[in-house]
Amino acid sequence: MDGQRGNWSSNMGLILAATGSAIGLGNLWKFPFITWENGGGAFVLVYLICIAAVGLPIMMAELLIGRKTQKSAVGALKDAAGPMWGIVGAWGVLCGFILLSYYTVIAGWSLFYFSKSFGWMVSGFPSGMAMGDLFGEQSSNGALQLGLSFGFSIATVSVVYLGVQKGIERIARTFLPVLGVILVLLLFSALRMSGSGEALVFIFQPNFNELEPVAILEALGHSFFTLSLGMGCMVTYGSYISKTQSVVKASATIVLLDTLIALIATVIMFSVIFSVPGMEEQVGGSTVGMLFISLPELFFTEVPLGRFLGPLFYVLVALAALTSTISLLEVVTSYVIDEHGLARQKATLMCGGTVFIFTILAAISFGAVSGVSNLVVPGAIGETLFGGKIGWFSMADHFVSNWMLPTGGFAVTIAAGWFMTREDTMNELVDGTQPSWFRYGAWRFFIRFVAPTAIAAIIIAVMIFGVDFS
Ligand code: PHE
Repeated sequence: MDGQRGNWSSNMGLILAATGSAIGLGNLWKFPFITWENGGGAFVLVYLICIAAVGLPIMMAELLIGRKTQKSAVGALKDAAGPMWGIVGAWGVLCGFILLSYYTVIAGWSLFYFSKSFGWMVSGFPSGMAMGDLFGEQSSNGALQLGLSFGFSIATVSVVYLGVQKGIERIARTFLPVLGVILVLLLFSALRMSGSGEALVFIFQPNFNELEPVAILEALGHSFFTLSLGMGCMVTYGSYISKTQSVVKASATIVLLDTLIALIATVIMFSVIFSVPGMEEQVGGSTVGMLFISLPELFFTEVPLGRFLGPLFYVLVALAALTSTISLLEVVTSYVIDEHGLARQKATLMCGGTVFIFTILAAISFGAVSGVSNLVVPGAIGETLFGGKIGWFSMADHFVSNWMLPTGGFAVTIAAGWFMTREDTMNELVDGTQPSWFRYGAWRFFIRFVAPTAIAAIIIAVMIFGVDFS
C-alpha cells in the first residue's frame, strides 16, 4: 500500500501544507482574544516560551514519527512505539473528527461576514446597524448555519478528495501566498492608525503584574491548538515526507510562520481597537466578539481603505480556516485509507459525510435548536470534562482543547522520548550528519523532560484545579 500513498512534491510542499494547517482560527480568532484577556505582553512572552520549549520539540517528534513510519496516526504510533500505542493514534483521529465538526461552523461564519462586508463595500455600510444583533441573528438562524457549514464542508471534502499533491499541497501553494499578501496589506493599514503605538506596547511590553498563573497554562494549551499538535495531524503530514526532506528545517519554519502570523493578526486587530475611543470596554466579552462583532463595523468606520480591506480580511479568515479543516479531515481519512484499505475518494466522502452529521449539531447550537444550545452535563463530570459549558459547540471545544490535545501531546512526548530508541529518532533528525548536542541532544532533552513536565502541569491543573483552556 505504501506505493499508493501520497507524497509532498518537495520540502516546500510539506512546509506550506503544514503551515496552512497550523495557521487558522487559532491565530485569528483565539490568540488575539486570549492575549487581550490575559493583559498582553507578559502573556505573549510566556506563549513564545511555550512555543519554543514545548511546541517545537513536539512538532519535530510528530513529523519524525510520520516520516519514519510512512503511516497515518494509528499505524505510525504502533510502528514507532509499540502495538498499544495505536490507542494514542486513535485518540488523535477521534480528536480530529470532533474538532473538525465544530471548527467548520466558525469557518462558515467567515463566509457570512465576507458576503456581508462585500455587500457593504458595494452599497455602503448601513448606519446604525447593531453588529451584536446581526451576529445573534445569523448564529441562531439554523438554516443559514447549516448552509454555511455545509458549503465549507464541501470545500474541505473536495480538496481532500483530490489527494495529497493535487489537493492539499496545491491549495496550500495557492492560498498561503494570497493570505500573506492580504495580511501585509492589513498590517500596513493598521500601523498607520492612531492606536498602533498603544497596540504594540500592549502586545510586546511585558507587564508581569497583569499575568495570572493560570495564564501560563492557557498559553501552553493554546500552543497545541495553534500548531495542530497532539492529535496526529503532523504525524499524518509527516508520513508524506520522503526521506530526503528535513524534519528539523520544516518544523522550525512551520513554528516560526505560525507564530509570526498570530502576532501580526494581533497587531492588526489591536491597532484598530485602540484607535477607537471606548472600544476597549466593548471588546472584552467573548472570543467571537472581537472577530465577528467589533471588527466588521470598525473596518467600515475607522480603518483607512477599510471598505476594501474588510471583505479581504474575511477572505483571509476563510482561507486560513480551509487549510486547517483539510488537515483535520486528512487525519481521519488517511486513517481509514491506511488501516481499512479504502480508496481515497471513497474514504473522503465517507469521513466527510460522517463528520458533517456532528457539524449539524454544532451548527444548531447557537440558539437555533434549544435542546442542543442548552445541552449540559450536570454535576462533577460535566464540570470536569466540559468545564460546565452549555451547548454542544462549547462542550466539544472545551473537551478537545482541555483534554484531548494535551493528553495526546503528552503521549507523543513519551512515545518519542521514552519508547522510541535514541537511534531511531536520531536517524530521522540528523539525516546522516554528525549529531551534535545542538542538532540532537537538545531536542532529546526537551522531549524527554521539559515538554512532558509542562504538559503534565496543564493536565493536573485542569483535573485538580479545574482550569479552563478553551
Ligand atoms: N492549528 C489550527 C488553528 O490554529 C487548528 C487545528 C488544530 C488544525 C489541530 C488541525 C489540527 O486554527
